[in-house]
Amino acid sequence: MTPNYFRIRLSTIRPDKQTTFDVYLHVDQKYIVYLRAGDRLSDGKIKTMHMRDTGDSFFVLVADKQKYQDWVKEEINSDLINPFEKAKILRESSVALMEDLFENPDVNKALDDSRPIIKDFIDLMESAPEAMGFMISLSGHDFYTYNHSLDVSIYSLGLGKALGYDPKTLEELGVGALFHDIGKRNVSLDILCKKGGLTDAEWEQMKMHPQYGLVILNGHPNISDAIKAACFEHHESWSGNGYPQQLVSDEIHPFARIVAITDTYDAMTTQRSYNVPMAPLDAVTMMKEKLAGRYDPDMLKAMYSVLFKIKVAS
Ligand SMILES: [Fe+2]
Ligand SMILES: [Fe+2]
Repeated sequence: MTPNYFRIRLSTIRPDKQTTFDVYLHVDQKYIVYLRAGDRLSDGKIKTMHMRDTGDSFFVLVADKQKYQDWVKEEINSDLINPFEKAKILRESSVALMEDLFENPDVNKALDDSRPIIKDFIDLMESAPEAMGFMISLSGHDFYTYNHSLDVSIYSLGLGKALGYDPKTLEELGVGALFHDIGKRNVSLDILCKKGGLTDAEWEQMKMHPQYGLVILNGHPNISDAIKAACFEHHESWSGNGYPQQLVSDEIHPFARIVAITDTYDAMTTQRSYNVPMAPLDAVTMMKEKLAGRYDPDMLKAMYSVLFKIKVAS
């Protein structure tokens, strides 16, 4: 890891816009200033840079993180940028911040740091409702490790909005969804990364992650019960045969019922090394028909409207 720098996606930087921070290129284990604060990128340079952007190449100093976040915020409030570009910039910039969040041993700080990101998503949903559709269509396509949590959070915000949640509730939901799998920190990497089936013992380990998550969250003050529930109850099932508590229907916290849906949906539609991703419609149809009974039926209906009544970017 590189504690002094954090990774950014180049696509968050527009050619004609001055940056307020230096951008570094990582070559041969050295960080070289590629773009000075205050400079603009020429079209030619941005094309060359894009060719080099493997997702691993461009960095900003951790000391400049606030500047980068403010800069992104200004971009997504700009009238010059269309909702699709805004959605793209916001998602890509969040992916970059995710890694840092998830490696932070201070869970309270990670949760606090995630709030501005979640708020930016909520603001964008309010100011440009069509952006949510774009955002969803951008999910599941790139190579970062923390996509799953980010995507589950984005889907959950869309679903929460469709269910009529107010901004404050949406913020709690977004944070809860983002950290739903935090307990996987305590499951061994061999199990998490294993290709193919798990043995019974490994599966037992894996199924402990909601409890591990609760223990982690309980160890920090001021974390709401709703956020804890999104983590501890997201593998419960509407019909009562989930884990770890076998709660039934509305005994399960609404946030956890939402994450149960968006978590499964993301797993089904994302490319993993060992499966072929399902098309969005096939995934929801399967959840409705073959997995009927596992999810809150009204929420599943709402998920359908979130996914299919929105314009999808091509
Ligand atoms: Fe999980
Ligand atoms: Fe998950």
